[in-house]
Amino acid sequence: MKILAFGASSSKNSINKKLATYAASLIDNVEIEVLDLNDYLMPIFSIEVEEGVGQHLLAQSFLDKIASSDLLIISLAEHNGNYSAAFKNIFDWCTRINGKVFQQKPMLLMATSPGGRGGATVLEIAKAAFPRFGTEIKGTFSLPNFNDNFDLEKGQISNPELDKELRNIVRMI
Ligand SMILES: Cc1cc2nc3c(=O)[nH]c(=O)nc-3n(C[C@H](O)[C@H](O)[C@H](O)COP(=O)(O)O)c2cc1C
Repeated sequence: MKILAFGASSSKNSINKKLATYAASLIDNVEIEVLDLNDYLMPIFSIEVEEGVGQHLLAQSFLDKIASSDLLIISLAEHNGNYSAAFKNIFDWCTRINGKVFQQKPMLLMATSPGGRGGATVLEIAKAAFPRFGTEIKGTFSLPNFNDNFDLEKGQISNPELDKELRNIVRMI
């Protein structure tokens, strides 16, 4: 079994990438690949740019990574209540090749932010939208107040209740 995990952000020190990596580590006996969205940065999508370059090779490469996995673990950065522009751009390019971007792979969908809502707004948006793009969401988790609840040195959730909550969700997947 292979897990593909990523933070839906292009921040170099993405807290969502850290959370996605930790969640993947809770699943035993699996191969884990953690993607960095910086490896998939493309020009901002427009019909005119697409007419120039056609289907983008990086979008195909991103889709290939999804195709090669059995479970997706995505943690969404929240920018002004929505997806980060970096993630949305990759997503848009991918939909031009395959509208079912997630290719029927099951998903653990998460979000975190330094604030008290923990990216709950973007999490709700994605929870409603992503199934239309070919995934079944097996569980959702939001980690509020990241800086208080995540131990950066250990790379794990430091709040015992929140850690237990995530572990229970992962166990049900
Ligand atoms: C342009 C911008 C908009 C943001 N909007 C929100 C927001 O709506 N809600 C929120 O909780 N945090 C917001 N934040 C703070 C992010 O949650 C924070 O930068 C977080 O680290 C993003 O996740 P990442 O580290 O994985 O990129 C915003 C940050 C930026 C730069």
